[in-house]
Amino acid sequence: MKFFGIPVRRKCCFYCWYIFVLFSFLYYSGLQEYLFAWSYSRHYIHWGPEESLQTLISQMQIREASGVKPINEFSYPFTFIYQEKCRSKEPIRLMYIVKSAMHNFENREMIRNTWGYENKYIDVSIRTVFLLGYDFDSPDLQIKVEKEANTHKDIIQAEFIDSYYNNTLKAMMGLHWAFHYCENVKYFFFVDDDYYISTRNVLRFLRSPLNYPKYLEKFVASAVNEYQDQLYAGFVFNNVSPIRWYFSKWYVPLSEYPYSHWPTYVTAGAYVLSRKSLVNLYYASLFTKFFRFDDIFLGMAAKKAGIKPVHHNEFHFDKKPYSLEGYKWVIASHGFADPVQLLNAYNEQRSAGNA
Ligand SMILES: *[C@@H]1O[C@H](CO)[C@@H](O)[C@H](O)[C@H]1NC(C)=O
Repeated sequence: MKFFGIPVRRKCCFYCWYIFVLFSFLYYSGLQEYLFAWSYSRHYIHWGPEESLQTLISQMQIREASGVKPINEFSYPFTFIYQEKCRSKEPIRLMYIVKSAMHNFENREMIRNTWGYENKYIDVSIRTVFLLGYDFDSPDLQIKVEKEANTHKDIIQAEFIDSYYNNTLKAMMGLHWAFHYCENVKYFFFVDDDYYISTRNVLRFLRSPLNYPKYLEKFVASAVNEYQDQLYAGFVFNNVSPIRWYFSKWYVPLSEYPYSHWPTYVTAGAYVLSRKSLVNLYYASLFTKFFRFDDIFLGMAAKKAGIKPVHHNEFHFDKKPYSLEGYKWVIASHGFADPVQLLNAYNEQRSAGNA
């Protein structure tokens, strides 16, 4: 039998094939996942217990047997902790907490000599530490890290595997360390070890976060010294949907995260927190379910803590193409994994008074 000139059996096969391709396409494109995601605005409350943070904290502080316990605490043992890093008579204005990888010795050395240099100003106290995970398979690498730690006393290391999907652990480790040992720090700047930073612009930004750099170009009467004691600032993303495309590095199945959008989040490569926001974010992180993307995890915790992230364009999560003039107001720019490039940019900007 024939149907439009195609034998029926072959036509049937053709349809099966067609349906198979259609279903594969739907599956891998994630289209059906987009369609079946729960509306964020209608369903998302908190990622973790739904009680308010204040309720949870007060219950935790009372520590009754029936009271609430944290659901997500950083509990890996520290190899190096350097609790004395924040001990100082006068308050520390700025603490860089640099997320680094064990083998990036040269990047750390260059950071110590450029934007992370602690004695840049006599009247502004700055500190720099590096967060490291662990590599259980390379004892030689660990010996080199130990030497570095003994020399510089700025390595904070804990025993979890240093890998991309463990970045959330590194963020939790940073919050844990800063919360417990750095009460007298005003601002914490979390940053990856492949960034260019202008310390000068960071300090200028902190003087008036909502009006930087306008207030430096012309006098803005209401703006000068607009101190923000609840600050969480960086490059902010609002209303972004999870990636449901199966082959992406950032693929997230509905079973892992069922909502249509992420909470507002700050890209995790570079962000700054006031002490008060750090404390609130730390408490909130204890009651936020673990999530493998650090920026999303912190966004969930910020929502729980009721912190509204502040966006600024001069936190570049991509590399801003380098030029002497173009970097005048840059606070942070990604893409400086090459220490020589970092040194050149830093030296040029410093000579121009921008770093
Ligand atoms: C994260 O670190 C823990 C502790 O070392 C380890 O068990 C786990 O496999 C690591 N996860 C990833 C994705 O590397």
